[in-house]
Amino acid sequence: MSRTALTEPPLLSLRNISKSFPAGEGQRRVLDGVNLDVYPGECLIIAGPNGSGKTLLMKIAAGLSDPSEGEVLYRGIPPRAAELYAGLGLVFQDADAQIIGETVREDAAFGPRNLGLSRQEAVKAAEEALETAGLAGKFDFPSRRLSGGEKRRLAVAGILAMGCRAMIFDEPFANLDWPGVKSVLRIMGDLKSRGHTLIILTHELEKVLALADRLVILHRGRIRENGSPPEVLARLCEDYGVRNPLRSVTRVEDCSWLA
Ligand SMILES: Nc1ncnc2c1ncn2[C@@H]1O[C@H](COP(=O)(O)OP(=O)(O)OP(=O)(O)O)[C@@H](O)[C@H]1O
Ligand SMILES: [Mg+2]
Repeated sequence: MSRTALTEPPLLSLRNISKSFPAGEGQRRVLDGVNLDVYPGECLIIAGPNGSGKTLLMKIAAGLSDPSEGEVLYRGIPPRAAELYAGLGLVFQDADAQIIGETVREDAAFGPRNLGLSRQEAVKAAEEALETAGLAGKFDFPSRRLSGGEKRRLAVAGILAMGCRAMIFDEPFANLDWPGVKSVLRIMGDLKSRGHTLIILTHELEKVLALADRLVILHRGRIRENGSPPEVLARLCEDYGVRNPLRSVTRVEDCSWLA
């Protein structure tokens, strides 16, 4: 992150976000008063165990779900859903669910077409984005036959083609082998060096720590820690259900999470 980034106003602000769902006779609160600012150009990691509310929080941030309470500000003002959609792209956990176009080119052109670009402009934006995402040689390849890592790259290209400067990766390493993980990490590093804002939701801290400017721990719908990765990891509490990647494990007895 550049030194100037934190002096700029936040790109995204989540103000006192809560979300409840009906459960039996009452309501179950799954997000509870979350406050979070995300600054331009930073790489923010949100870690937390299954069901802690990571995906839901980011769906709310991206305008795909409404909060029960609180508000989302984009560049300091409450956005219309379309503005959020154009500014903040979400790479889903299930890369297959995000594929729409038959070919790689058609798929990446879908977003810009939806934003009102002509077919020619959309294809141009798609091809440029596919090059950035490392899929230059695959424009006519059937989208669904890409590998897992390539499908994530295709989702990134679709978002870049729409002109998004910020993107949220939801469990970007799920179901990927090591070459797939490296492929996704490379594109993340590249996007970061081009000044894009990255929000990465993951349990697999060890894979992304090198890219992280800030680490947030979400636990039972609340932010428990928010700070620089070394600070947060030094304070990491076992109860939060997030493994500290700095602690090496050499013996099975050390695997306290297996107990
Ligand atoms: N539409 C819904 N109706 C009811 N409960 C929901 C709904 N969507 C999410 N939840 C609940 O909200 C909680 C948070 O879910 P969320 O998907 O955000 O967790 P997560 O931190 O992303 O977990 P994971 O690491 O497994 O992806 C879960 O308990 C989930 O069951
Ligand atoms: Mg999730």
